[in-house]
Amino acid sequence: MLVLGLQGSPRKKGNTRFLLDRFLEVSRDFGARTITVDTDKRNILPCRELTACERKGFCPIKDDLKDEIYSQIQEADVIVAATPVFFYNMTAQLKALIDRCQVFWARKYRFKLKEPGIGQRRGYLLSVGASRGKQLFEAIELSTRYFFDAVSAKYEGCLTYRGMENAGDLAAHPSVEKEVRQAVEKVVKPLVNRKRIIFACRENACRSQMAAALARYLGGDKIDAMSGGSEPAEKVNPIMQAAMAEKQIDLAFAQTRSLGDAIETHHPEMIVTMGCGEACPVIPGVKIEDWDLPDPADQPEHVMRKVRDEIEIRVKSLIKHI
Ligand SMILES: Cc1cc2nc3c(=O)[nH]c(=O)nc-3n(C[C@H](O)[C@H](O)[C@H](O)COP(=O)(O)O)c2cc1C
Repeated sequence: MLVLGLQGSPRKKGNTRFLLDRFLEVSRDFGARTITVDTDKRNILPCRELTACERKGFCPIKDDLKDEIYSQIQEADVIVAATPVFFYNMTAQLKALIDRCQVFWARKYRFKLKEPGIGQRRGYLLSVGASRGKQLFEAIELSTRYFFDAVSAKYEGCLTYRGMENAGDLAAHPSVEKEVRQAVEKVVKPLVNRKRIIFACRENACRSQMAAALARYLGGDKIDAMSGGSEPAEKVNPIMQAAMAEKQIDLAFAQTRSLGDAIETHHPEMIVTMGCGEACPVIPGVKIEDWDLPDPADQPEHVMRKVRDEIEIRVKSLIKHI
């Protein structure tokens, strides 16, 4: 259960940072995992309209989006965009990140692919401005709504504060704590009580990736899925990505993760292994189920498809019995 905060203010100890930090702290109190992307500190290059995303489905610009942030967006259950008002809009730092998400727009609308988390991903906006203008947040809200649509997050609303000029102003606001808690209760809390399941295989490149994505896609309202591998490969398998794209499920930005890391971050209630024989993990209190499926790595495409379809059948049955 990942809440991803996109922090747009360049100011140290600023109002936006305070607001997002509180939102994420309360999310953690409810049991969510959180990541903050500090846009001002990251290497995020603006879109150069090379149009590769619309023609080929990927962005050739090499920066932190490509290496890390695209994958965090793909993994997120809740995306929180947080920004001060700069000239009646969001900051350039956050806007640069958003423009580069045109790749998600292209994969969704040009290539007709779907994010595995599409059924439950939510988006929320936090913003602050110094003046009290009636239309102060209108441009930001409109841009953010379109951004959330591109990354397949349902817009859940916003918390905005006028009259916040100096760093520290918002911390002194009388009702901010209560309002943040109410927002987190509405947006984050309903997603926390899903069953936490890890799908595991050796390399986390094929079987467990497909299983976790299908569990998210088909049963994300019941299952909070993550995957991991006992000996994770450097990258996921491109034949697996293509096989999932045939089902319209997009794993373009999926990355591998070690099983140890998955267990530490996800605190699973159940682990489903894809075939581990004697080496099945044993964790007190955690249910282990072994599906014993063949490893499709280095096999022809039809083997990958067969394993994918078998996984789909088993995931559907798992969802039914949860
Ligand atoms: C370049 C710049 C442009 C700004 N434009 C606006 C504006 O159009 N309307 C407004 O109400 N405040 C404007 N502000 C004020 C900030 O929104 C305000 O100080 C806010 O509290 C900063 O948030 P932060 O502490 O999170 O950085 C601007 C500030 C800067 C630095």
